[in-house]
Amino acid sequence: MPNVKLTDIRKTFEKGRIVAVDHVDLLVRDREYLTLLGPSGCGKTTTLRMVAGLIEPDKGEIHIDNQLVSDHPPEDRDVGYVFQQYALFPHMDVWDNVTYGPRVKGLDEEKSERICREMLEMVKLSERTDALPRELSGGMQQRIALARALAAGAKLLLLDEPLGALDAKIRTELRYELRKLVKDLKLTAIHVTHDQGEAMAISDRIAVMKKGRILQVGTPQELYMKPKHLFVAHFIGESNFLEGFVSKTNGKESIIELREGLMVHTLDKTYRKADKVVIAVRPEIFVIEKGRKKGVNSLYGNVEKYRFEGTNTRCEIQLENGDTVVVVRPALLTERLDAGEEVTVSFPVGKHFVFPYPEKGLREELRVE
Ligand SMILES: Nc1ncnc2c1ncn2[C@@H]1O[C@H](COP(=O)(O)OP(=O)(O)O)[C@@H](O)[C@H]1O
Ligand SMILES: [Mg+2]
Repeated sequence: MPNVKLTDIRKTFEKGRIVAVDHVDLLVRDREYLTLLGPSGCGKTTTLRMVAGLIEPDKGEIHIDNQLVSDHPPEDRDVGYVFQQYALFPHMDVWDNVTYGPRVKGLDEEKSERICREMLEMVKLSERTDALPRELSGGMQQRIALARALAAGAKLLLLDEPLGALDAKIRTELRYELRKLVKDLKLTAIHVTHDQGEAMAISDRIAVMKKGRILQVGTPQELYMKPKHLFVAHFIGESNFLEGFVSKTNGKESIIELREGLMVHTLDKTYRKADKVVIAVRPEIFVIEKGRKKGVNSLYGNVEKYRFEGTNTRCEIQLENGDTVVVVRPALLTERLDAGEEVTVSFPVGKHFVFPYPEKGLREELRVE
């Protein structure tokens, strides 16, 4: 069973003008479901194609199952590659598609038939062996693509936006099936997506990528609770960002002055007086009350928008200093608020993140394209 190790991988295109992947180090553990998550163009597909052996890195090493695979062509890497476009042979029926791998490998007929039956059962399509790909729904075609990859003996599954072309409902269903399949068959999977909800639901760990680099690797919970970069706090879940600078610090906690002199307390010790920082607060961390209430980390503002969303209410508040924050509260526990209403939003000291102000500015840092 394979683990996968990438060491200092770099890949450029067009004579070095496009740096698609750079300084990428990653260890995917044996039997792990790991997702590469990041906005379009950040280098996910390029990374996956290098693992598959479809393209060569300019620099760095790739190990699969503790073996350096630089000289191994794709067919010797025992990987199954599933794309967004259901890449089935259109003129072959389901059975021929799935038996293709074992046949090419020269397995005897009995053995390859047994494997294919097993795989089709796994993906719940044993009844459709005679169908042509075009006669099947998108979700079914993607299941067949999986069965085909697995029948060919893949121990390492590489999934490039495999659910991307499917309807929302099927996409959510297939997420769980995909994960279960990988776990039941004790495979290792590297899944690529730009959809954070999908990544959170399906993965053991997620590697968040931006502009060719991996910013942070962690479990969904680690990334949500302890984002190490502004961009991660932005891309995983939702965050409010407030700009300011450290106005006081005593080695235990700091006071940060936001725009227009609003003050907030943090337990952060890493910054020095006058450092420019950005505070990130999750929308569900804010408490909202009508009127002006005094307290630590209480900010005053007016309701701009109030939306009932079923489980939650979502409220946009314009603070006194002009910053806007989004507050999400459980609908059943929240009073209705009207636009224009004066409110206090507060958050407990320590329930937020402090980041250094990004070199190129906040807006540029958070851009996803
Ligand atoms: N064959 C190629 N030739 C030139 N540029 C490429 C090629 N493949 C990818 N790129 C560029 O490399 C960057 C990363 O692409 P890709 O890995 O496909 O991103 P993602 O899968 O995250 O959307 C993009 O800027 C893309 O335009
Ligand atoms: Mg891609």
